[in-house]
Amino acid sequence: MRTQVAIIGAGPAGLLLGQLLTKQGIDNVILERQTGEYVLGRIRAGVVEKGAADLLDAAGVGARMHREGLIHDGIEVAFGGERHRINFRELVGKSVIVYGQTEITRDLMEGRAAAGAPTIYEAEDVSLHDITGDKPRVRYKKDGAEHEIACDYIAGCDGYHGVSRKSIPDSVLRSFERVYPFGWLGILVEKPPVSDELIYASHERGFALCSMRSHTRSRLYIQCSLEDRVEDWSDERFYAELKRRLDGDAVARLQEGPSFEKSIAPLRSFVAEPMRHGRLFLAGDAAHIVPPTGAKGLNLAASDVYYLWRALSEFYKQGSKASIDAYSARALARVWKAERFSWWMTSMLHRFPDSSGFEQKMQQAELAYLVSSPAAMTSLAENYVGLPY
Ligand code: FAD
Ligand code: DHB
Repeated sequence: MRTQVAIIGAGPAGLLLGQLLTKQGIDNVILERQTGEYVLGRIRAGVVEKGAADLLDAAGVGARMHREGLIHDGIEVAFGGERHRINFRELVGKSVIVYGQTEITRDLMEGRAAAGAPTIYEAEDVSLHDITGDKPRVRYKKDGAEHEIACDYIAGCDGYHGVSRKSIPDSVLRSFERVYPFGWLGILVEKPPVSDELIYASHERGFALCSMRSHTRSRLYIQCSLEDRVEDWSDERFYAELKRRLDGDAVARLQEGPSFEKSIAPLRSFVAEPMRHGRLFLAGDAAHIVPPTGAKGLNLAASDVYYLWRALSEFYKQGSKASIDAYSARALARVWKAERFSWWMTSMLHRFPDSSGFEQKMQQAELAYLVSSPAAMTSLAENYVGLPY
């Protein structure tokens, strides 16, 4: 088989890139290790920046997001028993859309099926060959048979555990990492959200987040220990702990119901440089991870895809390799700013197990300063709604 761009991974990065390329008549094939149902079963991010929403529109799959997504003009930051609103619209004139990653993935999958572009699910043992030559190839196994795809370029959109990043030699790749000493325990529940907007709560027992997927479905998180297992946390125990970390009004409005999804995610900051090696590009979680506190993971995957899409389309339409050569530096410049914001939000809002009294005082001062200073709130707002592409 031959294609122009072989895309590894059918998460949001791979599907979005595929859809944008297909719209421009650039041939692409997506190879995905899992089944489509498995990919749709993963509950992940929920906040979409304007830039990412515009890209979904450009890919022709934004209609349902605009119909069903919730526009949020701000968030609330809670500490010391009080909530403080950060008004994005007033501070930076922008808002975000609350719409689940699962729904985005579903819209992209349907768009791809409608366009008739090929996705090979359950592709096993994907391997990358000759990435520094002129004729790269991707091999995989499907139903016991070996296959090979010849292509011009490979887009590694296969997430943190994928094969693409690992195909770049150690002598080329530099990694930067911070692992946080806690995780997030999250549940989905068919109950209305506690508040109209997301509540990010800092408490001496740990962080908590009240988010949502719709007017009738809540997504709730609490900071947990890395040793905790999902089985340790009954719904009763989860709600009891969440209520300890929220203010009185939020507790009064919390409607408890049986969870229908419960999972623990570890928190990590990670960047691999460069994001291009020969004819292989990395995009999304394949190249970087942010702790979820800033709601940036999915949005960063989208901005990488934007730069890569522009670069590939410039190459195929105008014959220029300038943006291909600039891809890694352009993407990384924005990645590092989102890494900084996610690290800052995480550091400010979580309880660090071995933090000293001084460090806790610094966290309290940071929060007090944030909600008292329009300059500080503006900084949070412009990062949360998304820095320009
Ligand atoms: P992924 O979504 O990881 O997609 C990669 C795809 O590649 C997967 O479908 C995978 O099956 C496939 N793949 C992997 N290896 C191979 C291979 N060898 N061959 C073929 N295919 C392969 N972000 C937030 O902003 N808020 C959150 O609450 C949040 N929660 C998260 C919870 C978890 C458990 C995780 C893991 C991430 C979370 N994120 C969150 C981050 C966000 O979901 C990711 O940043 C986003 O999914 C990145 O998209 P992606 O397409 O780059 O990678
Ligand atoms: C959600 C996840 C986040 O990490 C975040 O910062 C905001 C919302 C969510 O899953 O709804």
